[in-house]
Amino acid sequence: MMADISRGRFITLEGGEGTGKSTLQHALAERLAANGIEVVETREPGGTPLAESVRELALHPPRSEAWSPMAEALLMNAARSDHLDKLIRPALAAGKWVICDRFADSTRVYQSVGAGVPMDFLKAMERSVLAQDVPDLTLVLDAPLDATAGRRKSRPGASDAFEVRPDDFHQAVRTGFIELVRTEPARCRLLDASRPADEVADAAWTELDRLLAARGQGA
Ligand SMILES: Nc1ncnc2c1ncn2[C@@H]1O[C@H](COP(=O)(O)OP(=O)(O)O)[C@@H](O)[C@H]1O
Ligand SMILES: [Mg+2]
Repeated sequence: MMADISRGRFITLEGGEGTGKSTLQHALAERLAANGIEVVETREPGGTPLAESVRELALHPPRSEAWSPMAEALLMNAARSDHLDKLIRPALAAGKWVICDRFADSTRVYQSVGAGVPMDFLKAMERSVLAQDVPDLTLVLDAPLDATAGRRKSRPGASDAFEVRPDDFHQAVRTGFIELVRTEPARCRLLDASRPADEVADAAWTELDRLLAARGQGA
């Protein structure tokens, strides 16, 4: 299928907590802007007023209650549907590039870990919610947990429902993301995130440059 040149490109950043997704998002947005590309930086869960409300409900459930993995999967997809309709699709249609900090792959990985939701169901729901709007490129940041432990602690804000899980949960998340890249090599790239941030950004830029070149805007 020929890519529509006038449509923006959709890039998602994935990986565990503290792997450097937010840091990389800003670095990539700056480089794209320097190449004359209009960029929208957004995140999941969240990105629209309703989806941000769902984010708060999912990550900081009231009265220390806990959601089941199935309830989490439904919440994330409800938020995603609103995010796609109101922000991502209009931006892409307007020719802007969208960089999203976490997206559907996080739901696949986090909500399937352990005795979570069956992958078949997660993928079926994802197909319906995303429809044509599968990311053009997904960069998966990967680093050993001991490399990200200090980074996780240095981040501002109260810890959320996922950050407080035990190490074996985070280890399973890491394995889940590596498996994702193995099963979808055309869309996903695994990046070694244990390197200094500027080296990670350089490696990521090499991947983005391919997308730019494909639309005749190579740097
Ligand atoms: N490659 C890196 N090497 C060292 N520190 C990093 C790197 N990338 C990010 N950091 C720092 O680690 C912390 C977490 O990074 P962040 O981008 O917020 O991670 P994430 O969004 O994946 O949770 C921040 O303080 C950030 O400055
Ligand atoms: Mg972040």
